[in-house]
Amino acid sequence: MPIQTPLPADSPAMQRLLHGTTGIRYGGDYNPEQWPRATWVEDIELMKQAGINLVSVAIFAWGLLEPREGEYDFRQLDDIIDLLHKAGIDVDLATPTAAPPAWFWKKYPDSRPVTRDGITLGNGSRGMVSPSSPDYRRAAAAITEQLARRYANHPALVLWHVHNEYGAPISDSYDDDSVAAFRVWLQNRYGTLDTLNEKWGTTFWGQVYGEWDEIDAPRQSASVTNQAQRLDFHRFTSDALLECYINERDVIRRFTPDIPVTTNFMATNCLSADYWRWSQEVDVVANDHYLVAERADNHVLLALDADLTRSLAGGAPWILMEHSTGAVNWQPRNIAKRPGELARNSLSHLARGADGILFFQFRASRFGVEKFHSAMLPHAGAETRIWREVVALGQSLGSLAPVRSSRVTACVALVWDTESFWAQDFEWRPSAELGHRERIEAFYTVLWNRNVTVDFVHPTSELSGYELVIAPSLYLAGPAASENLTGFVRDGGHLLVSYFSGIVDLNDTVYPGAAPGALREVLGLTIPEFLPLHEAETVTLSDSRTGTAWTDDIEVSTAEVLARYVDGPAVNGPAITRNSFGAGTAWYVSTKLDGDDLDSLLLDVLNTAGIDAARGVTGVEAITRSTDTDDFLFLINHTDAEQAMSATGTELLTNTAVDGTVLVPAGLTRVVHSAR
Ligand code: GLA
Repeated sequence: MPIQTPLPADSPAMQRLLHGTTGIRYGGDYNPEQWPRATWVEDIELMKQAGINLVSVAIFAWGLLEPREGEYDFRQLDDIIDLLHKAGIDVDLATPTAAPPAWFWKKYPDSRPVTRDGITLGNGSRGMVSPSSPDYRRAAAAITEQLARRYANHPALVLWHVHNEYGAPISDSYDDDSVAAFRVWLQNRYGTLDTLNEKWGTTFWGQVYGEWDEIDAPRQSASVTNQAQRLDFHRFTSDALLECYINERDVIRRFTPDIPVTTNFMATNCLSADYWRWSQEVDVVANDHYLVAERADNHVLLALDADLTRSLAGGAPWILMEHSTGAVNWQPRNIAKRPGELARNSLSHLARGADGILFFQFRASRFGVEKFHSAMLPHAGAETRIWREVVALGQSLGSLAPVRSSRVTACVALVWDTESFWAQDFEWRPSAELGHRERIEAFYTVLWNRNVTVDFVHPTSELSGYELVIAPSLYLAGPAASENLTGFVRDGGHLLVSYFSGIVDLNDTVYPGAAPGALREVLGLTIPEFLPLHEAETVTLSDSRTGTAWTDDIEVSTAEVLARYVDGPAVNGPAITRNSFGAGTAWYVSTKLDGDDLDSLLLDVLNTAGIDAARGVTGVEAITRSTDTDDFLFLINHTDAEQAMSATGTELLTNTAVDGTVLVPAGLTRVVHSAR
């Protein structure tokens, strides 16, 4: 019987994972192999105190579980899993394949990855293997089979955690196995060399290929390398990593067809995994998120990451697999979280659709490269502020059980396309100011400040459920994306496009004719010439807004001009346009707007699309999770003062009735439950 992927949400094992406890799933990575057994016993007592009900084990235990190739030793892991089970703590069992053992590197040195500039990486770390190495895939499948066979019927097992953060810290490898696999991948994609030569534009700089084995990985070269080739190498790498995941998942499925399988994503980190494809292959989406400690708006970026994760999950509940209780150890300045921040961060993820809150890691390591990373239980032990906050969060999550399975809905979507980001990030683009991430964050922040909930979408996703779709930076848009966005507007949708979008097709080839080839029709304009600005140059618009970074020379066909440039290289030309197209409307903004200028533009667009965007209380995040019958309004106060917010129902964290107004203390969260 074919095994279904993903497992149905109402299957008993999925229900057990997400509903099998009295509260929300709570816990973290647990690495007891770094400690003596007496410490495990103490750990488990503390876990019970904190209400922990799920821990991820064995993530980096391959060398202990298989000390020599084909020789296994599960005594320690048996003991740990049994102890956890006796304490009522469930297990998210990892396959330890992110860190192959020393014997593996000695025996299979060709599995070491090679960087783009030709350095073969050594061991003594983790996450470093050629994803195309047959030796690695065979060894990974073998240890996975041993684990799946041994623990298939263990009552503690509720989830499989395959590998750890595929693609981190490096993803693409330029070793011989990767080059050979890349050629096969290209044969499958293009069929003939003639097609490949055409798609890659190899007549440029005389790169025409006559034999498949002339094709190499796009390693560091004398000048800029063929960008279609590089883009395909990103796609190939994402697929190669995904094959590694599927290789292990399918072994697991043979032994535990009903237990959910996942791997931890890094949603907004676009190294070389196209998570829109990956999310189709996991039973539940799991994500790791770490604050950019030094950014004052890092809670907004957290919300963005959580919204993207929910979108990758198709709106279904997801698991926050890792975040931190305090400082990490790998940023330039590892700023500690302030009192209360740990709970605010956790509850923001929960508000945006997470049904599990886990941390890296339970007990802080004393040795190894992460010894200065925070943990649920710090070096200083249980008599600490962090531990007290961990215990308090466990209690809060116990009270929030009714929230499980409820969903967040949005009528605004932001386009997020990893392939477009990869392509835009290559060299020799028209301006160093063209940052897709910068634009997405700018648009997202304006919406966050207005408490407009957004989903993220792929440009070919079903869009009919949205009133407004925004493409802050969609440099690459294939024909399917072009048709989808155009059709969305034709059918009555509202589309807002920012500059340098719709320029190239799936092979990074400029569409024939004037830009923006993929969006010309829907925007009702053409751009004969890009007019990027000098560093720090500003331009003034006829509506008094100020632009930076970029302008276009625009010729409107059917679009009306809402604002013109009053100075700068595009003086007198259109700056912001609106096109009535079919039953809908498409806006184009050709310069970088920020702050109030971007906010007022978005407000116009939101109002036209009929979306309520009245500003609430600045700094109080308001987001609703709903079921058919119930609403859960999360109010997260990021300010230093108590805030009075409108709500009626029952406040779940304090278990008090709310009649019209709820007071949200400074830095705290309130969750008001009401019938719909
Ligand atoms: C990642 C890894 C963890 C740990 C944390 C530290 O998310 O998955 O193993 O290294 O980073 O922040």
